[in-house]
Amino acid sequence: MVRAPLLKRILPAALVGALLGGGPLNPQATPAPGPGGLLALPPPVAGTVPLDAALRERRTTRALAGPALSLAEASQLAWSAQGENRPGRRTVPSAHASYPLGLYLVTEGSPTLGAGTYRYQPGAHGFMSSGPKGVAALLGPIRAMQPWIVRAPAVFVVTGKPLKISSREPAPRMDYTFWEAGAASQALLLQAAALGLGAGVASGVDLASVGAAMGLGPEEKVLVLLPVGRLKGK
Ligand SMILES: Cc1cc2nc3c(=O)[nH]c(=O)nc-3n(C[C@H](O)[C@H](O)[C@H](O)COP(=O)(O)O)c2cc1C
Repeated sequence: MVRAPLLKRILPAALVGALLGGGPLNPQATPAPGPGGLLALPPPVAGTVPLDAALRERRTTRALAGPALSLAEASQLAWSAQGENRPGRRTVPSAHASYPLGLYLVTEGSPTLGAGTYRYQPGAHGFMSSGPKGVAALLGPIRAMQPWIVRAPAVFVVTGKPLKISSREPAPRMDYTFWEAGAASQALLLQAAALGLGAGVASGVDLASVGAAMGLGPEEKVLVLLPVGRLKGK
């Protein structure tokens, strides 16, 4: 068997990923969840797109085509928004290191990641299933939902629990939580641009109904939706 370091010296990185398993060139069946129901995600990979190029490409794209995200793409996007970049600490700053955000992926499903709703677990870098419904089934029935969101093959949902922030005043708690949602959203949008994916932001919808459809508790608020898909014609 050829060892990984040797492969890395003689083959392009993407091909090495495919040969070693888990890379975007290696579509497999959806892996089975492990102990505790955790669906382990492939580790985040080092990209090749400079930050300034991703900043130039970032824009709201509302014409989003399938197929929905692969496991590797979902992993990279979730890690960018809320993943750990060192033990116990994340890619996005957090007031008092309170980490009030939740990150969910609602997806129509792809060969490597089945349809449904998943909650991202930053510490374990994995997904826990939080329901069988994909985008159309979960968001379609919500009154006045914007059509481009329902047509997207995948939608990340950023939620917040302001009470996790240790502040005596209620107002800063909410402000800090929104602030973090903005930082997490921009990180995900830049990563989507770097991956050549289209993405957008939407909070002009009935966010309370989205939370109710997801079965969230009263203390967890939906803050923003981030639809993601392929750029049409690419
Ligand atoms: C907080 C926030 C909420 C938004 N809500 C929506 C929305 O509900 N629907 C929508 O189509 N776009 C929404 N947008 C996207 C803006 O319309 C978009 O960012 C703006 O037109 C600038 O375009 P650009 O993102 O392509 O630079 C939202 C943007 C932000 C920052």
